Amino acid sequence: MKETIERLLSELEGVRCKTLREVEDMRVHYLGKKGEITKLFDEFRTVAPEMKKEFGRKLNELKQLAAAKIDELRETVSVQEDTAAPKRDMTMPGDAFELGSRHPVSIVRQEIVDIFRKFGYDVAEGPEIEDDRHVFEALNFPPDHPARDMQDTFFVSVGHPNPLLLRTHTSSVQVRTMENARPPIRVVCPGRVFRNEAVSARAHCIFHQVEGLYIDRNVTFADLKQAILLFAREMFGPDTRIRMRPSYFPFTEPSSEVDVSCNICKGKGCNVCKGTGWLEILGCGMVDPNVLEASGIDSREYSGFAFGMGVERIAMLKWQVNDLRHYFENDMRFLHEFSTAVEV
Ligand code: PHE
Repeated sequence: MKETIERLLSELEGVRCKTLREVEDMRVHYLGKKGEITKLFDEFRTVAPEMKKEFGRKLNELKQLAAAKIDELRETVSVQEDTAAPKRDMTMPGDAFELGSRHPVSIVRQEIVDIFRKFGYDVAEGPEIEDDRHVFEALNFPPDHPARDMQDTFFVSVGHPNPLLLRTHTSSVQVRTMENARPPIRVVCPGRVFRNEAVSARAHCIFHQVEGLYIDRNVTFADLKQAILLFAREMFGPDTRIRMRPSYFPFTEPSSEVDVSCNICKGKGCNVCKGTGWLEILGCGMVDPNVLEASGIDSREYSGFAFGMGVERIAMLKWQVNDLRHYFENDMRFLHEFSTAVEV
């Protein structure tokens, strides 16, 4: 027993621990229920009575020393653990956090708006929830026009003498501009529009438009044609050609739909332009005199043109993404494709 005490004493001298876990293991090893020192106390019962005094003292000394050593180790190890954390290399580069990027529809809308701003147009915005006057009546829609039907338009309040509805085009903002400003007027109106359509690859109940309006003295169809040609060249490249096909809108007369030469096959015919060499991009026309008068502009003094295009449609042509639904589902794999399309 004397030897064991001696051995444990010298062993305790040399014990080193790096972690609090190790200190605890050491405590269990010596002082735990089955620990080395605890076992010696059990053995002590068998010691001859005349030796008890000496061994008793030695054993108690051993126990106290072990307890003191454990306390001391616990102290130094926890200080070391505390100071270990800041010992990281503070000059290491940090974790980069993911930057968002602009949505493809926002990129194209901004591109369209920037082109017209360069031509001297202002930007006007208006409410998405509108009344009949700004979406239809002031734009020369006859009372029985099918666009006023619930099948085509989302109504917010039904059966009301002046029902609220979700605007079906941003021409409503052009009306608001004409009501509040005197010519010369040059504005583009970007915004979300809503139509009661079944969602498919080619149609959606929500989409974005940029419409434009130019009113001044002596504005002619030639000015409209030139504005559209300049826009098309800025947007699709300097070799782009345009063609105008006669069309009909209640708010313009004459009216036209505009195609641009297909920038993929350069007019030879491919599956994007369905072999025609042309892609439809917008509707336009000379503002109907009734529309000018409805907003208090003298149609004998002033004339103007208007145009409107779908942002998703232009984005589809630009990136050849032929399913409109991709633009609304916010699938990160799709959105990431555009994260380098512009600097954020
Ligand atoms: N407002 C029309 C639409 O939503 C587009 C358009 C605007 C056509 C201006 C001609 C002139 O389809």
